[in-house]
Amino acid sequence: MKIDVVSIFPEYLAGLQLSLIGKAVDQGVLDLNVHDLRDFTFDRHSTVDDSPYGGGAGMVMKAEPWALALEHILGGGSPGAASVEQTVGADTGDEEPAAAGRPILIVPSPAGPVFNQRIAEELSVADHLVFACGRYEGIDQRVIDWSGEHFDLRPMSIGDYVLNGGEVASMVMIEAVSRLIPGVIGNPESLTEESHEDGLLEYPIYTKPASWRDRDVPEILLSGNHGAIARWRRDRRLERTADVRPDLLAGLDGLDKHDRAILE
Ligand code: ADE
Repeated sequence: MKIDVVSIFPEYLAGLQLSLIGKAVDQGVLDLNVHDLRDFTFDRHSTVDDSPYGGGAGMVMKAEPWALALEHILGGGSPGAASVEQTVGADTGDEEPAAAGRPILIVPSPAGPVFNQRIAEELSVADHLVFACGRYEGIDQRVIDWSGEHFDLRPMSIGDYVLNGGEVASMVMIEAVSRLIPGVIGNPESLTEESHEDGLLEYPIYTKPASWRDRDVPEILLSGNHGAIARWRRDRRLERTADVRPDLLAGLDGLDKHDRAILE
């Protein structure tokens, strides 16, 4: 999968070089490029923002630098000043053209639909994702509308709160999506019983020692009875979901008699 990120703070995304995602980039599973929006400006101050038409607080990101950056990513645009992109991982500069189909342009915004595990799964099979990290009050709507002619446009919120910009939201989505790509997580089995994978939250987990500060690991986990352990774990998932996120239960199907008894 190819992922491009455009930001005025490319350094923010440096964390993606670490851990499993960094490894996936090093191994070529992920082709991740971070672009500095200011490299697509031509004035002395590398201006990316201006005051809003109609008045109001704050500044708005100008359309043209965004259009140039996105055109560059599409392969048809001319880059701006000297250093066009900061590459996370091994980008040689002679990038391959975008894979067939339109790239998906994700515009993080508190005004978008809320990102979740289903959307992460959907995005994890895409060939090319582009993240446009806005700052200030947001991006001029005209370039958002224009981008819809070239990209599959997806405004996306990561929750009902307001961040200072799209960088952290993009990192959240990139991590959630890329860990679902085969080869990114060492043991794919660890993806199967996670929270939100099947609509239930995950069960509590324990490691050695079996007794710690007078707190014992639930005995059943030491029993070696795999069937009983699986049942115990499912019961805890049901209980925890009912307790912490009862809203998730409404979307569940396939509950058997035992499941329903636990939930009563
Ligand atoms: N930018 C600011 N707040 C945001 C949020 N909640 N989700 C995505 N992008 C944002």
